[in-house]
Amino acid sequence: MGATSQSLRDEIAKLKEEKKAVILAHYYVRPEIQEIADFIGDSLALARKAAETDAEVIVMCGVHFMGETAKILCPERTVLIPDTEAGCSLADSCPADEFRKFVEAHPDHTVVSYVNTSAAVKAVTDIVVTSGNARKVIDSLPADEKIIFGPDHNLGEYINSVTGRKMVLWDGACHVHDRFSIDGVAELKKAHPQAKVLVHPECRRSLQMIADKVGSTAALLDFARQDSAQEFIVVTESGILHEMQKACPDKVFIPAPPEQAGCHCNECEFMKRNTLEKLRDCLRDGAPEIIVDEETAAAARRSIDRMLSLS
Ligand code: 13P
Ligand code: SF4
Repeated sequence: MGATSQSLRDEIAKLKEEKKAVILAHYYVRPEIQEIADFIGDSLALARKAAETDAEVIVMCGVHFMGETAKILCPERTVLIPDTEAGCSLADSCPADEFRKFVEAHPDHTVVSYVNTSAAVKAVTDIVVTSGNARKVIDSLPADEKIIFGPDHNLGEYINSVTGRKMVLWDGACHVHDRFSIDGVAELKKAHPQAKVLVHPECRRSLQMIADKVGSTAALLDFARQDSAQEFIVVTESGILHEMQKACPDKVFIPAPPEQAGCHCNECEFMKRNTLEKLRDCLRDGAPEIIVDEETAAAARRSIDRMLSLS
């Protein structure tokens, strides 16, 4: 590690102490941020951690909806994100106005939304889920309950397949997970026949069906830790490989390619907008800060609390 990078890390550590801040990071952010974070996790763990922290400032190194979720759970704390442009194509595939119409068109349905949504979408939702608890939450609902689910179509199809439900699905997708190449994964499997295939449920159904494990980032990491296989083909954003390799130094993790030729791994450019420099700047400046209007936050909170109490 270069001297500049070390001095940046020292600066961040000093500012963090001065501001009484906690740094939370998702598994997809750059390794150097994962290394400096107080806590790394999947969306569910990050929401839980935000809900229980007593730090005055939460810096969410992830994407915008993760910062919003933290702010909704901790309205009295300052929530910062290093880059306001760190959005999410999946959340963007579900504009609140259109989702409201979808809800109105299904008046007798319970509204379940994936956490990758804006606060405004969560505000018209009955129960939020993450990929870490979606199955459990849906299983907890009466078998004859009519459900609409948004925005991730691939995750919705997965939940329908494992629970036997017939949830009505919004047609949204994550551009990163939706572009993994089934042929690319099949080729890797041919070259590494003993490798187990780890697939995030935001990937297409064809990939879910050839998986040895479908799960959230944390669930895939746990599987890699516990399984006796020595090689894994990882079909989710490649940032997770850092923690997988750290947790299992003797195992081999192979990133699955996207459909475009020439790429060997698949990255989320929104997650990669988080850099050490921007993290330092946001701690120093107390900005950019996440603000959610009170009415939206109160309504969104009910759907997030319902998730946390069910999972
Ligand atoms: P999880 O970490 O909850 O599995 O979610 C992945 C994701 O898409 C975050 O962008
Ligand atoms: Fe959103 Fe996909 Fe990036 Fe996750 S990987 S933050 S779902 S765009």
